[in-house]
Amino acid sequence: MKIDFANLQVQYQKYKSDIDARIHSVLNKSNYIMGEEIKQLEAELSSFTGANHAITCSNGTDALLLALMAIDIQPGDEIITTPFTFISTAETITSMKAKPIFVDIEADTFNIDANLIEAAITDKTKAIIPVSLFGQPADMDSIKAIADKYNLKVIIDGAQSFGSTFNGKTDSNLGDISTTSFFPSKPLGCYGDGGAVFTNNDEYAEKMKMIRVHGQNKRYHYKYIGMGGRLDTIQAAILLAKLPYYKKELGERERVAKSYTNTLTGNLTLPIIKSNRTSVWAQYTVRVNNRDEVKKKLQDNGIPTAIYYPVPLHLQECFQPFNYKIKDYPLAEEASNCVLSLPMNAYLDDSDIFLITKALIDV
Ligand SMILES: Cc1ncc(COP(=O)(O)O)c(C=O)c1O
Repeated sequence: MKIDFANLQVQYQKYKSDIDARIHSVLNKSNYIMGEEIKQLEAELSSFTGANHAITCSNGTDALLLALMAIDIQPGDEIITTPFTFISTAETITSMKAKPIFVDIEADTFNIDANLIEAAITDKTKAIIPVSLFGQPADMDSIKAIADKYNLKVIIDGAQSFGSTFNGKTDSNLGDISTTSFFPSKPLGCYGDGGAVFTNNDEYAEKMKMIRVHGQNKRYHYKYIGMGGRLDTIQAAILLAKLPYYKKELGERERVAKSYTNTLTGNLTLPIIKSNRTSVWAQYTVRVNNRDEVKKKLQDNGIPTAIYYPVPLHLQECFQPFNYKIKDYPLAEEASNCVLSLPMNAYLDDSDIFLITKALIDV
């Protein structure tokens, strides 16, 4: 019996008729670029998240760039973020010739530790980018209070967390700008690259719509330096087909996570979701001391696992010019040494979960 990490094939078979119909509708109209499905999807994303504006774009990385360009980040600006995240979070800061200032994480949620942010603020700080890692928002009350106190913008990197909530609001509706990714294996994924930005600020929304299309304000007239950042109509069509089932899928992911948590025992630290938050369980990530051995034994039993992330960003070669060094962010480093993500998708049944948890406990 083979266990699949994200199980996109089973999901496609389940929604095949809706997805195929939507794709064929685009093929029949040949409206591949900025077809009406884009507008439809943006309206549905806005209603799903509660954010006034949802603007689709080419991927979750460009979503971050759109946000940074919208708030007018300049060379030399500093932006506070977490070192325990995917490269895009800090890569995009550096692409803007700004400087990522890392702040260590909380041991229990893996998210940026809001208590450490104030000490990292200088007169060059312009923004904070919390990441809702593995699907759970960071401590947004504290982060927003600090941002208000120091007049900083908050961009939430919600690439892994579309649909998650903090105090009942989605994390797409909490930042000055929030972003997400529709990469295929994300909780809501399309069949290629895709992403979106969200905001309640009309001015940022207008600006990001222009920047997404080369900064164009009318045909062949360019107000801003922009990018080729559109979402393909076919990807929008796929997301339109999948979105009606998304709440149910999130319920199933919650079922799987609960089942893991109720069953797993032994020398493992399990993920914690804080009481005022929900996670969309992009990953179910445990901490294990003997990770290499555990990973191999599970692999031998046909159980795939993943390591997000083996090296924290401050120790990546590409950020060496910033002179970060080992022990700068001990909790991020410790997490990198022991995290292991288990298979997570809406289609794991009790027997799959039994096999996975038994194999893990046995090791
Ligand atoms: C935290 C985080 N930020 C940004 C991204 C970038 O998204 P994309 O791959 O769609 O560019 C990802 C994707 O894995 C991510 O996990």
